[in-house]
Amino acid sequence: MDLAGFVEPGSQEAGLLKLIDANRVPKHIAIIMDGNGRWAGMRKLPRVAGHRAGIESVRDIIESAARLGVDVLTLYAFSIENWKRPKREVNTLMTLLKEYIQRELNNVKKNNIRFQAIGRIQELEKSVYRELQHATDETKENTGMLLNVALNYSGRAELVDTFNRMFLELKQNGHRTPIDEDVISRFLYTSGIPDPDLLIRTSGEMRISNFLLWQIAYSEIYITSTFWPDFRRRHLLEAILEYQQRDRRYGAIKKQ
Ligand code: IPE
Ligand code: IPE
Ligand code: MG
Repeated sequence: MDLAGFVEPGSQEAGLLKLIDANRVPKHIAIIMDGNGRWAGMRKLPRVAGHRAGIESVRDIIESAARLGVDVLTLYAFSIENWKRPKREVNTLMTLLKEYIQRELNNVKKNNIRFQAIGRIQELEKSVYRELQHATDETKENTGMLLNVALNYSGRAELVDTFNRMFLELKQNGHRTPIDEDVISRFLYTSGIPDPDLLIRTSGEMRISNFLLWQIAYSEIYITSTFWPDFRRRHLLEAILEYQQRDRRYGAIKKQ
């Protein structure tokens, strides 16, 4: 964990960092980045100003998670249901995404982060798709944190895609053994990635909004009223600290 050198001595972050057990940092953190629109509304700004402001949080959280030694960070950036929004807002989100990748790719590379997008990305506009492919390609040899961005993603759509691919492959191989949970996991978009240990949702909504339905079976859920554009390293440390105080029982009885 090399975050210690990056927080100001004596600051609130430094205090939180001291309380965190470096050996029990969640391996996979998934975040529903919510509240950009409300953040902007409170400031009498257009919703897109909230999305723009949210980019700073993305940058801060990626860097903090990588320095904390998190193995996988999954960010929910755009759901299939988000197409119901006004075209202008959707277009701005896509433009911001492209700008973000273009601007941050070097930084991502420098931090040894591997980028990957999950979702029906082939349905996105060509220029967006190309940018995602480029970032994936350029970082595929990196060995540090995996940054998984969920785009044009929905949990149910993932299951539909998973089952279709699975049945097709099983049929081609003349496979007759029954399907089990491991087989299904192998066909998910998140194949090979451990399930999230910690699921964070910002801005207080008590719902999953079609995110990682299969994978969050036993994730610890942390919901904060903080809007995404205000969510920074300190808030991430608070979430991890609370996570470390939870007792993950997986249906068994409490450890003595
Ligand atoms: C999250 O913020 C960003 C996306 C869903 C793309 P919202 O845009 O949902 O903001 P609120 O929830 O309306 O405040
Ligand atoms: C979930 O947020 C999707 C993303 C963060 C990308 P929404 O704002 O779309 O969720 P609902 O509509 O409040 O459930
Ligand atoms: Mg929202």
